[in-house]
Amino acid sequence: MTLLETALNARKNAYAPYSNFKVGAAVRSGSGKIFGGCNVENVASPEGTCAEAGAIAAMIAAGETEIAEILVVAGGPVLITPCGGCRQKIAEFSELDTPVILANPAGETSTTTVGDLLPGSFDKSHLQKG
Ligand code: THU
Repeated sequence: MTLLETALNARKNAYAPYSNFKVGAAVRSGSGKIFGGCNVENVASPEGTCAEAGAIAAMIAAGETEIAEILVVAGGPVLITPCGGCRQKIAEFSELDTPVILANPAGETSTTTVGDLLPGSFDKSHLQKG
């Protein structure tokens, strides 16, 4: 299955009764395996999780820590981009030039990078004890 197919399959199972906005994501890890995820909302809204978080969690649970590529897919008139929190989550396991593919269910895509989505990010170099 491709990244898009995996993300679309996961999106079918998205639990989004509050926003009615279903999102799917798929990560290709360093070993080449693909992991999918979907958004999982909660009646206590801050407890909901994004599709990207689900895909990343599946990758980590499988013992991998490198994102080679990530795709996010949703409906709507414009291609979705990852929310701010997800940009930071993606950055944790990727490089500045790691591709981030934005897609819609029709298969239209646009590719950007982690560095373009999150310039000047807080990273491990900042986390030094003073
Ligand atoms: N959502 C994602 O799953 N990923 C994003 O990057 C943006 C937003 C979800 C969260 C919520 O369930 C719904 O989309 C509407 O915000």
